[in-house]
Amino acid sequence: MEPSKVKAEWVASSLKDTEALADRLAGLAGPGTVIALDGDLGAGKTAFSQAFAAAIGVRGVVNSPTFTIIKEYEGEALPFYHMDVYRLSMEEADELGLDEYFYGSGVTIVEWASLIEELLPPKHLAVFIEHLGGEARRFRLSGSGEPYAAWIENGFR
Ligand SMILES: Nc1ncnc2c1ncn2[C@@H]1O[C@H](COP(=O)(O)OP(=O)(O)OP(=O)(O)O)[C@@H](O)[C@H]1O
Ligand SMILES: [Mg+2]
Repeated sequence: MEPSKVKAEWVASSLKDTEALADRLAGLAGPGTVIALDGDLGAGKTAFSQAFAAAIGVRGVVNSPTFTIIKEYEGEALPFYHMDVYRLSMEEADELGLDEYFYGSGVTIVEWASLIEELLPPKHLAVFIEHLGGEARRFRLSGSGEPYAAWIENGFR
């Protein structure tokens, strides 16, 4: 049976608000956390990932992994795996053995995650980012299974 989904919305009026959401999620993340990001080109998937990386204590520059597909970083307490699967076919993604990351000792953020939906762990936090004009963005968050459903129920606190 699929885990039931719990949903929430977060409206950011500026990049600062996006960083505040990333901060909260970073405070909740642990080994095996998977955050599945989607949203149009330029919605803010990489900006969110960069804010998240900073919040878990990754030092230095976090670039968009569009061309590298997967980048690994060391956070203060746990590794950070940053993926962008935009350029991958399902077959290629399947061959990469992504489970090693998803079920590893770090936290994973996947940009364009819906393209590899079938390869994602059944439990993950899905985040859809929508451009509202200017710096405004709407985040639609959906938690499948625990602890993600509880994160949403508790307002990411
Ligand atoms: N509230 C906001 N949240 C996120 N990004 C914002 C916000 N306001 C402005 N921006 C800017 O919007 C741009 C978002 O670009 P970003 O590369 O993060 O998008 P993306 O979703 O990763 O695109 P791609 O699909 O090309 O990977 C950045 O320049 C960022 O600074
Ligand atoms: Mg990006």
